[in-house]
Amino acid sequence: MKDSLLEIKRNALEAIERYNDLDKINELRVKYLGKKGELTAILKGMGKLSKEERPVMGELANTVRDAINDALEEKTAVLKEAVLNEKLAAETIDVTMSGVGMPQGHFHPLTQVINDAKRIFNGLGFEVAEGPEIESDYYNFEALNLPPDHPARDMQDTFYINDKVVLRTQTSGVQVHSMEKMNGKLPVKVIAPGRVYRKDDDATHSPMFHQIEGLLVDENITMADLKGVILAFVHEMFGPDVKIRLRPSYFPFTEPSAEIDISCVACGGKGCRVCSHTGWLEILGSGMVHPNVLRAGGYDPEKVTGFAFGMGVERIAMLRYDINDLRLLFANDERFLEQF
Ligand code: PHE
Repeated sequence: MKDSLLEIKRNALEAIERYNDLDKINELRVKYLGKKGELTAILKGMGKLSKEERPVMGELANTVRDAINDALEEKTAVLKEAVLNEKLAAETIDVTMSGVGMPQGHFHPLTQVINDAKRIFNGLGFEVAEGPEIESDYYNFEALNLPPDHPARDMQDTFYINDKVVLRTQTSGVQVHSMEKMNGKLPVKVIAPGRVYRKDDDATHSPMFHQIEGLLVDENITMADLKGVILAFVHEMFGPDVKIRLRPSYFPFTEPSAEIDISCVACGGKGCRVCSHTGWLEILGSGMVHPNVLRAGGYDPEKVTGFAFGMGVERIAMLRYDINDLRLLFANDERFLEQF
């Protein structure tokens, strides 16, 4: 029996040494150590041995089994590593190969205008404020000096959620929110870009559009400050040669109020189709903050003054990019959007 064990060991180790193939090594494991393997077969004969011989043979059988097992494991590891190395060698990465190009996207023209406006007004010391699109009647109208039956409410007919809650028709409500947040501190110097909603729908009006509100409240603010800030903005946005003019107007929340025009960006002011041959284009409404609005924001109109303005973002984008139908901005047609 001893001889058979040693012979199995010799044969097994030699076979393991000889083969360099994982499948073959697995076969050898079955052949020698498996349930029906050679070693198992020999061990079955142990019962016939004498009491003295049995433990000796048992021990020898164990060392034979361990030796074969170790050899199998070592070889398996070596072969597996070789397979891996072969794979890695085949998988060289060519770092000079050009990648798969992803088409580059860009911001929507309205977002571009809003981002530029933020940058310009940030440069002039304005912070960006935000207010809710679903707004109370109080902030959208009442606090802006538009009591419930004020006729000017008709100009901005909107979507009512209920009697007291509307989709905001203008960003002007953020004026009051901002003053409240500042809690009496000076200056209040914010712009507030955002969506607004009105019951309009044609080539130059959309039921949803964007405005940028501006508000500066401090001591001794005058209309000259308003004019200076808007002129600086217009020069940055449309170019240094563009002029502005103020026309008297009416808004319930400013007194006095002015509409601000820029010289036509298409014809330089000579008069053309774009400016209806007037040489001017209206871009925003503005004025000195009404005393009632200052009071609603917690400020004393005897001590501070302020100016406010509100511009339409779509209008500015249409002028800047020469777009003739506002609805194109919301159609999500790539053929249109990729031009900007
Ligand atoms: N909220 C006004 C509008 O939507 C614009 C405006 C803002 C006018 C601020 C004056 C001051 O028409």
